[in-house]
Amino acid sequence: MAHLFSPLKIKNIELKNRIAVSPMCEYSSEDGFANDWHLIHLGSRAVGGAGLIITEACAVSAEGRITFADLGIYRDEHIEKLKTIIDFIHEHGAVAGVQLAHAGRKASHEKPWNGNKQIPSNQPNGWKSVAPSAIPFIESEEAPLELDKADIEKVKADFKAATKRAIAAGFKLIEIHAAHGYLIHQFLSPISNKRTDEYGGSFENRIRLLLEVVEAVKEVWPKENPLFVRISSTEWTEGGWTANDSVALAKVLKDKSIDLIDCSSGGNVAHSKIPLKPGYQVEFAEKIKKESGILTGAVGLITTPYQADEIIQEGEADLIFLAREMLRDPHFPLRAAHELGHEVKWPVQYERAKWQ
Ligand SMILES: Cc1cc2nc3c(=O)[nH]c(=O)nc-3n(C[C@H](O)[C@H](O)[C@H](O)COP(=O)(O)O)c2cc1C
Repeated sequence: MAHLFSPLKIKNIELKNRIAVSPMCEYSSEDGFANDWHLIHLGSRAVGGAGLIITEACAVSAEGRITFADLGIYRDEHIEKLKTIIDFIHEHGAVAGVQLAHAGRKASHEKPWNGNKQIPSNQPNGWKSVAPSAIPFIESEEAPLELDKADIEKVKADFKAATKRAIAAGFKLIEIHAAHGYLIHQFLSPISNKRTDEYGGSFENRIRLLLEVVEAVKEVWPKENPLFVRISSTEWTEGGWTANDSVALAKVLKDKSIDLIDCSSGGNVAHSKIPLKPGYQVEFAEKIKKESGILTGAVGLITTPYQADEIIQEGEADLIFLAREMLRDPHFPLRAAHELGHEVKWPVQYERAKWQ
């Protein structure tokens, strides 16, 4: 059996294979609402055979969006369309997960294809961003507001309310976004977090917000359903968050019943040098898995069936997250099964296209 196609049981959920669609912002929403773009985008990847499909960063509050066009889960009205999409995904044998996110100081930006720039808070489609400290991501940008204790309570309440909506919509899995320089990562990192209260300074203080968000989510999320956390395993920057910090965090998160760490990197330091090459982040998934004992996901420049299969076979990670390759080919899992000589069930409508 191809290792990539071995099922993975986490709590009461079984993924039919080890292929997850990595979260990918589509910048195609109005006021946070999912629409037919999301149905086709996510739905076609369920048809294509992925075991797990995680939505793009789904904002827990309007001010937590990266752009005004982000997907959101901050209003009850968002639930209805999400439910249609999730039902479709589940009908086609994949598991639907949501990535709960808050952009922090990286909020209030233009869509990438319109230049990606920060929109000043006094301009249309702009708003004041928030962060652990009033330090902008890029020096020339408008500085964020430093969150006070009441604001932090609101962030936690927003994650909790979003979790309730995720349950109502039918998601079976949650991934908390603590990576890529967004709010929770901003708290984790000594580069962006210069607070002097109990949320800044020591490692224990910087991880506090993440742990409190995990607790807030767990207050409502069913015990039997998986909870993942995506982290930036390293900031690739002297004086920043390191892979050893990630191992220490993973041990704490494992004790808090987090099931899997999705091991990405970077995103919090504007000019960090990232040594891009195929599978460049797999080493972090392997290190965190081996040194903390938690399940891990590998992501980043994984593009071929053999590469993905080998990562699972070698025990370097438990799940493969694919982003851009899934955009190039929504049917990557069906093709991978063929190339690895593994028999999988095709959607009946497509059976005549099966490779013989
Ligand atoms: C269009 C696009 C949107 C993305 N949006 C998100 C996102 O919403 N949340 C997230 O954690 N990562 C996001 N990412 C990062 C991917 O999930 C993934 O980690 C990264 O692209 C590396 O994987 P790849 O080499 O398979 O593309 C995005 C990537 C792309 C290409």
